[in-house]
Amino acid sequence: MTKITIVLFLFFTTSLFAQDSNINIIPAPVSYKVSEGKFLFNNKTKIAFSDSAELNSANFLNDYLKSYYGFTLGIIRKAKAPSNCILLSTRRTVQKPEHDGRYTLTINPRNISIVGDTYQGTFYGIQTLLHMLPPTSQNEYALPCASIEDYPRFQYRGMHLDVGRHFFPVDFIKKYIDYIALYKMNTFHWHLTEDQGWRIEIKKYPKLTSVGGFRNGTIIGHHPGTGNDSLRYGGFYTQDEIRDVVKYAADRFITVIPEIELPGHSSAAIAAYPELSCFPNEPTKPAANSVWSGSREGKQVQQAWGVYEDVFCPSEYTFTFLENVLDEVMQLFPSQYIHIGGDECPKESWKRSEFCQQLIKEKGLKDEHGLQSYFIQRIEKYINSKGKKIIGWDEILEGGLAPNATVMSWRGEQGGVDAAKQKHNVVMTPGSYVYFDHSQSKHEDSLTIGGYLPVEVVYGYEPIPKELDSTEAKYVLGAQANIWTEYMKTGQKVEYQIFPRMSALSEVLWSLKEKRNASDFEKRMVQEFKRYDLWKANYSTAYYDIKSTITPAKRDGAILWSLESKSKAPIYITNNVTSAGLKYEQPLLISGSGNYTVSIVDQKKLLDSVSQNFSFNKATGKNITLANPPSAPYLGTGGAFGLVNGVKSEKGYPSDEWLGWKNSDLDAVIDLGKTQDVSKVSLDVWKQERSMIFLPKSVQISTSTDGKIWNNSLTQTMAEKPFNDSRKITLAFNQPTQARYVKIVAVNNGSTDSWLFADEIEVE
Ligand code: ACM
Repeated sequence: MTKITIVLFLFFTTSLFAQDSNINIIPAPVSYKVSEGKFLFNNKTKIAFSDSAELNSANFLNDYLKSYYGFTLGIIRKAKAPSNCILLSTRRTVQKPEHDGRYTLTINPRNISIVGDTYQGTFYGIQTLLHMLPPTSQNEYALPCASIEDYPRFQYRGMHLDVGRHFFPVDFIKKYIDYIALYKMNTFHWHLTEDQGWRIEIKKYPKLTSVGGFRNGTIIGHHPGTGNDSLRYGGFYTQDEIRDVVKYAADRFITVIPEIELPGHSSAAIAAYPELSCFPNEPTKPAANSVWSGSREGKQVQQAWGVYEDVFCPSEYTFTFLENVLDEVMQLFPSQYIHIGGDECPKESWKRSEFCQQLIKEKGLKDEHGLQSYFIQRIEKYINSKGKKIIGWDEILEGGLAPNATVMSWRGEQGGVDAAKQKHNVVMTPGSYVYFDHSQSKHEDSLTIGGYLPVEVVYGYEPIPKELDSTEAKYVLGAQANIWTEYMKTGQKVEYQIFPRMSALSEVLWSLKEKRNASDFEKRMVQEFKRYDLWKANYSTAYYDIKSTITPAKRDGAILWSLESKSKAPIYITNNVTSAGLKYEQPLLISGSGNYTVSIVDQKKLLDSVSQNFSFNKATGKNITLANPPSAPYLGTGGAFGLVNGVKSEKGYPSDEWLGWKNSDLDAVIDLGKTQDVSKVSLDVWKQERSMIFLPKSVQISTSTDGKIWNNSLTQTMAEKPFNDSRKITLAFNQPTQARYVKIVAVNNGSTDSWLFADEIEVE
């Protein structure tokens, strides 16, 4: 019996080892089988092609090897009895293959063979091979014999980049396109025009770039900013550069979709040609509360972020301008799709423009939304007349969808659901899953737009909304990550925002749904981080963030503090009393106030470092019960205990420390364990009216010695004595009172769907 167990155990460990050590392919292929034997890959290996159209793939492989491994391979025509070769061949299917990009990759001890159904498939086989190479520089690599069959799940696999808020040079754009290729994605959505800069040369309208391509300053810090750097900023791509980029992408089987924003986000174009505005003589209005740099006369390129009221006027002048611009754009980009924006177009200018009001009447439109729809439909007609199609943000649904438009769903998934139900194609880019400008860490220390979108959430994203049946689902072409660059000034920062989330998205888009497995992905990510190092790409290590959990301890008045990270490296703790590092081994019992720093270092790289402050009072670690449960999703991480866990949210919302009640009240009882003096009680609250989070209408405290009879009630109401905006509401008894139980009731503001947010309750 014992013997058999041992034998089986050995068998399983060997086969698992073979897979774990070598197969770290992202995105996961449809199927792979590892078999006995190895292929020795070194600088004597040759690339053997069957037809010259495969040279793109061969060159890509060699460029990659040269950049990251320091050698290249000879390229030869395929011989009869080859050995030590990477054999490329392509079926060149006469009929359209069932899956664009299908390929097989076979490794035996003599050769590696990649067979694509199309040239694109052959190219993807190369990407898989590159992902099988260990991410370290060696002279020789022993690749396991394997048989891989693979094809993509979705036909649209995209990455967007906003070059309007910040401009990125062609070298970086090419690097970005390489990343897209390495993850078997096929679309680069190039957001070329914005309020803060027009980035594409248009021969007929030179001022678009000479004037619209530059701004006289940029706000400092978070919008609306703490000042202005007063530096002239800008840049643009010449048409030669655009052609070069488009060719570079095409060589990698990537389509570049240009975006020319209309009718909103058009301040830079208006700065160049004021007649595009309904009010050409009105000077540009800066964003509220932002500091402006330079001249404030006439039309200007915007210097802060956000949305602006001065938009394209739906006049014949504008349509002629846009048609001329689009003519040049369509000449430059072979893409079937032209993205025309359509999002975030305020209607104020159109409301107060006599011309627009007249046009609404003349065309029998319902209102300004109808006018937006008229605008988009006219542009669509023009683009369709040139044999191309439009794609636009989901606002193009409002006031009636243009007949052939594809919708990019960004304000959640509803736009995608509505469009698919109307039998329109859809690309999913919902903010809460694929906006890579959001923070990846709960304690992000670089400036970002905010939000919280960790890798795990991206990995768990399902692009087909549940509301769609199988026929409607066919309209979902795929998904895309959007990278808005208000807070990304450099290519390095862009890399930091996309990695590792892009690796997760590639698997969402390429791999079969049943192949997606978060724990397997986690194992493969260990190698993937090393690959980012190989590429010298910047990335966020938030994936390895230390997760801190605080739970009640068995001992009254103490808490249990647990730490974990996805990294296997040890976590060290220092505190303000003993500065020597303590290696974290097991949950720690904390029974008094203190400031700690916890950090995790792997191979000399600091993965995460966070400070944790515990502030103890009579309520900390005590038993707490709530009459009303908090409302999802603001349940905290430890339920009611979060109100007495000794940790106060330092940054305010968002943080797991806050519990939220929608349309209901906080009603808590704390058992202090024994009767003692109580003189005051305080409660941390959060107010953010734009998010419907309000201060309580009133707060009441009362005490008891038995938990049944309540007395010493003290109430403060907003009506009689408003709480100031401070984060902490304190109610103090005139005299200390003897109590074992403390009750605190904070009454919700009471407006429709109003939230009450509360954190630490302190008893003194
Ligand atoms: C968008 O994020 N405004 C499309």
